[in-house]
Amino acid sequence: MCGIVGYLGARRVNDVLLTGLKRLEYRGYDSAGISFFENGNIKTIKKSGKVTELEKLLIGENCTGSLGIAHTRWATHGEPNDTNAHPHSDQSGKISLVHNGIIENYISLKKGLTKDGYTFRTETDSEVLTVLIGAIYEAENDFEKAVRLALAQVEGTFGIAVICSDNPVQLIAARRGSPMVFGIGNNEYIAASDASAIIQYTRSVVYLSDNEMVVINKDGFQTKTIENDLTKNKIHQIDYDLEQLEKGGFNHFMLKEIFEQNSTVKDAFRGRLLVDEGNVRLGGLSDVAEKLRKAKRIIITACGTSWHSALVGEYMLESLAEIPVEVEYASEFRYRNPILDEDDILIAISQSGETADTLAAIKEATQRGITALGIVNVVGSSIARDTSAGVYIHAGPEIGVASTKAFTSQITVLALIALWLGRMKNLSATQGKRIANAMKQLPEQIEKIYEKVDEIKAIADEYSSSRNFLYLGRGYNFPVALEGALKLKEISYIHAEGYPAAEMKHGPIALIDDNMPVVFIATKDEIYDKILSNIQEVRARRGKIIAIATEGDTLIQTVANHVIYIPETLPMLTPILAVIPLQLIAYYIAVKLGCNVDQPRNLAKSVTVE
Ligand code: M6R
Repeated sequence: MCGIVGYLGARRVNDVLLTGLKRLEYRGYDSAGISFFENGNIKTIKKSGKVTELEKLLIGENCTGSLGIAHTRWATHGEPNDTNAHPHSDQSGKISLVHNGIIENYISLKKGLTKDGYTFRTETDSEVLTVLIGAIYEAENDFEKAVRLALAQVEGTFGIAVICSDNPVQLIAARRGSPMVFGIGNNEYIAASDASAIIQYTRSVVYLSDNEMVVINKDGFQTKTIENDLTKNKIHQIDYDLEQLEKGGFNHFMLKEIFEQNSTVKDAFRGRLLVDEGNVRLGGLSDVAEKLRKAKRIIITACGTSWHSALVGEYMLESLAEIPVEVEYASEFRYRNPILDEDDILIAISQSGETADTLAAIKEATQRGITALGIVNVVGSSIARDTSAGVYIHAGPEIGVASTKAFTSQITVLALIALWLGRMKNLSATQGKRIANAMKQLPEQIEKIYEKVDEIKAIADEYSSSRNFLYLGRGYNFPVALEGALKLKEISYIHAEGYPAAEMKHGPIALIDDNMPVVFIATKDEIYDKILSNIQEVRARRGKIIAIATEGDTLIQTVANHVIYIPETLPMLTPILAVIPLQLIAYYIAVKLGCNVDQPRNLAKSVTVE
């Protein structure tokens, strides 16, 4: 949530910052703003709405310095208007700051500052931090010290970039709980919330740790703790290409990402799946293999789509690895008193690796002595670093706010882990080979589903005026129903609910009439007959049935209004195929309704506030 970028170097500052904001806009798009130098003074321009609105205001601006900061906002404190937009300035106008996170003690800080005569223009917590830095700077006349002392007083989370008009060649960035990375170019530096804003200029980056700051000057940089102890950091190389951040001919990132799943699923198992041995090699988990094998229980924690993939993982791990699994909403985990045993293992799943609730759940578990592992997409992200081991899903940058390819890659990795643990336990080589072979076929099977895109679009068009949808599935397809419903509501704002199909008769059946589309994920498995009965129950009440079914199943045509066929695979792998038509239905309905598919209202790609 909120994208931050800061630049120090010889390029035209506003161009670098605007390009960075466009790359980070998926993090929030309530407002955008920029601070740059003009004739030795800081000039700030900010506007509610998207980065393009800001861009219009910047035409003809005379940006003369080599330093600037910028921000794209997902509002927490204060409505998303021009005033509350970042950057914020202190009272003297010398300090300008952009912030991602929440200053939890801003009310008490504000009271103290108000008593001392400082005034505020906005409703934001971020302005309070800016004014606090300004107040300390006034007394100390030392910009870096002012930032450090102010941050030491702050409770809550922050990723900040801050500049001072008295130091026109110094950029300071810091973090606690919100991501911050800086790139080291050729006599230029760029700090940002994520590496996508940096890759155009350099691949060499340093990820700041919690309570760490970087002080960048024209001749170099220093990283240190907020307490002023110097720190040493590894320089990482960004492992993806600029083209992966472009739409590549698709109308939306979401569509591009849906159509990448044939290769992203392959990337998730490439080099890991040992088909001939019916086994798996997972370097990232080798150090904890024994611990995992002996685990009495696995707790998987995640949010949103990642939570849905966790549910699929639960079924897989229990059935192949015979370990009891519980799936916890990360947001709930630490606010109850979970009973934890030292032999439990926590697995956190997250595309971004920055979700605040998931990070908090990891913290809770590790503080209580539990080993925490990660299944993460973004390399070097907070969750990847806060867990003791893990597996990257290697899906590449996911820009569309609605998660698609991360879901199928997460399930692929969960299948690998389940197979690997299963083989350490009682799963035979024959069973292992069957699963490994089925996994190997997935990329081609996904391509077959892509061929049905016109058919799926026609169904989406037909139902785009419906205001409610039900999604029903059983077993491995129940989490798919949840995910299908989430996709639809996120991007088209249509009310949709996912349910275990058999639960329908305990309540939701009351909703069914001839206006209600019901999407059944009804693939061939051992409970196929049961789901057919559920379909009949909806049909008897004149609901409109859209079925996702296994190729060759002709019976289902006699009960459903529409059938979308997917290739046959093992039930445990079905979610990877079955979700794709649901992603496409949601996509085409949203497009038909004229919704902003990649940047749906009120949402942000990575939710870095609790
Ligand atoms: O980055 P994460 O996987 O931790 O994000 C979790 C959720 O915020 C995310 O899946 C969200 O629900 C998406 N908008 C779903 O499309």
